[in-house]
Amino acid sequence: MRKLVFQTVIVIFALTAGLGCRNENKPMRDKDNNDRKWWKEAVVYQIYPRSFKDANGDGVGDLKGIISKLDYIKSLGVTAVWLNPIYSSPNDDNGYDVSDYRNIMKDFGTMDDFDALLKGLHERNIKLVMDLVVNHSSDEHKWFKQSRSSHTSPYRDYYHWWNAERGTPPARYSLFDVNHDAWRYDSLTKAYYLHYFSRKQPDLNWENPKLRQEVYNIMKFWADKGIDGFRLDAFGFAAKDTTWPVYPKGYEKEFSKYYAIQGHLHDYLKEMNSEVLSKYDVMSVAEGTGNTYKDAHDMVDADRNELNMAYPFEGVDIPKIGGYSLMHFKQVFSKWDSVFAKKGWLSVFLANHDQARMVSRFGSDDPKYRDLSSKMLTTFIMTMRGTPYYYNGDELAMTNAGFTDINDYRDKATLNEYQHQKNIGGNMQEFMKGLAFSCRDNGRTPFQWDESTNSGFTTATPWIKVNSNYKTINAAAQEKDPNSTLNYFRRAVKLRKDNLVLVYGKYTLLDKNNLDVYSYTRELDGKKLLVLLNFKNYAATAATGLNLGKAKVLLGNYSDPSKNGTLLPYEAVVYELQ
Ligand code: GLC
Repeated sequence: MRKLVFQTVIVIFALTAGLGCRNENKPMRDKDNNDRKWWKEAVVYQIYPRSFKDANGDGVGDLKGIISKLDYIKSLGVTAVWLNPIYSSPNDDNGYDVSDYRNIMKDFGTMDDFDALLKGLHERNIKLVMDLVVNHSSDEHKWFKQSRSSHTSPYRDYYHWWNAERGTPPARYSLFDVNHDAWRYDSLTKAYYLHYFSRKQPDLNWENPKLRQEVYNIMKFWADKGIDGFRLDAFGFAAKDTTWPVYPKGYEKEFSKYYAIQGHLHDYLKEMNSEVLSKYDVMSVAEGTGNTYKDAHDMVDADRNELNMAYPFEGVDIPKIGGYSLMHFKQVFSKWDSVFAKKGWLSVFLANHDQARMVSRFGSDDPKYRDLSSKMLTTFIMTMRGTPYYYNGDELAMTNAGFTDINDYRDKATLNEYQHQKNIGGNMQEFMKGLAFSCRDNGRTPFQWDESTNSGFTTATPWIKVNSNYKTINAAAQEKDPNSTLNYFRRAVKLRKDNLVLVYGKYTLLDKNNLDVYSYTRELDGKKLLVLLNFKNYAATAATGLNLGKAKVLLGNYSDPSKNGTLLPYEAVVYELQ
């Protein structure tokens, strides 16, 4: 779960993708972190379909658009794609409100397009991971339409209802509602339904075994089509305490404590594993990790047979307006690594569709440092233990659009929060400043393909404005420049794929009190790599105590990489130690 701006957006996630393993001949110990799996060795590229490429000229990205860019995706070297939801949806939350789980959203195309996309990816040895949004559905799903129709509908218990004759239900916080009220009164049957997200996203009732079977059948439908994994959206919230206790005053400030990993959550995951996940070569990633390291670990401990990979938000939540502390950053990532050092598996990422742009939050979008800091952050993602997830457009160092007019924003959660702030007399100037820095729409502006109108994304008016810097920052220009962030990303991906030590090797933090430089080694089977990352816009020195005299530079973002540990602004170097 993580914060957007003045609104909190929870995200829990499970993803499954599949890639061919290299060097499969070398089995490592069973069930520990050196047990080789394709999804541990994967490099995942996240595509936000709405903003990637519009093929039919309606201003919205679509599946045919992605198909037209398959060779680009292949050229990145990535081995799996995670697609945000593409199912039928009225788009209250850009596809995270599903009205038919077995169909494709009209804006995005048809099932034939989907089949062609899957085939095209597989022909290129790229796995496909799909979003699975089953904490809630759309209120336009036929289950909900039936459910709300009468108290006796066989679908009534697919959702959580509170009959009004019992009085008002105990308060529950909604992340997306304009009043933050997660109960919505429905006069048709004089009852309230629960929605942790928007009013159009009623929460499904996982206590109902029939609902659970429906979900497993949906998963089988997609797994039978040959997809390679599932990212479980907001699933940590799926289990509720249906005795509906009254929560203490102020609980909403730490609502995750009350919402995440409740009741039978682990039982549901075990059941999902035995009914579906264990029967296919698919991987699963859980968005969000609960409240404790143990919660996170339990969901993905191979011995428990639940999910494969944790996706913790603590790292991506670090940046604030005005900066962040590298010490904090190191502590967070080192701690997560240590908790998962022996068992369980992590994802590593600094951005996704719920975040503003990586370079604007973690690096510097000042043109002087933009490329350097973006390359440095890419180096970090590609050299940590855990599966890297890289968000589309970050390979170009796309930046925040930083809209200053609320009419330029599209995200409903943001617009609802804007209204909420107005209603309560919030400081709107501060609110808008917050949006420009961290609203998730910053990460959803159209992909910048070239310098033609609308950045080559669409021939129509795009659903959200293109970032005005597209003439400078775009893929076509970067293709021609061997030193572009795009080409650096390709080299970093190749480095990871060529060096198993970057996947499985032991991580050791060095020089831990250095305020400017992040230094660590990765070691496996006698091979030792050293990573030095200067997170600052000034020169800084790493005191690792290691002799770099004979070290071989494997990757660096300056033409003349440091040979003595003194790094130029945002310098990143990966060495092989001899
Ligand atoms: C997850 C998604 C986010 C969505 C929310 C509700 O957090 O990542 O985009 O708004 O769930 O489905």
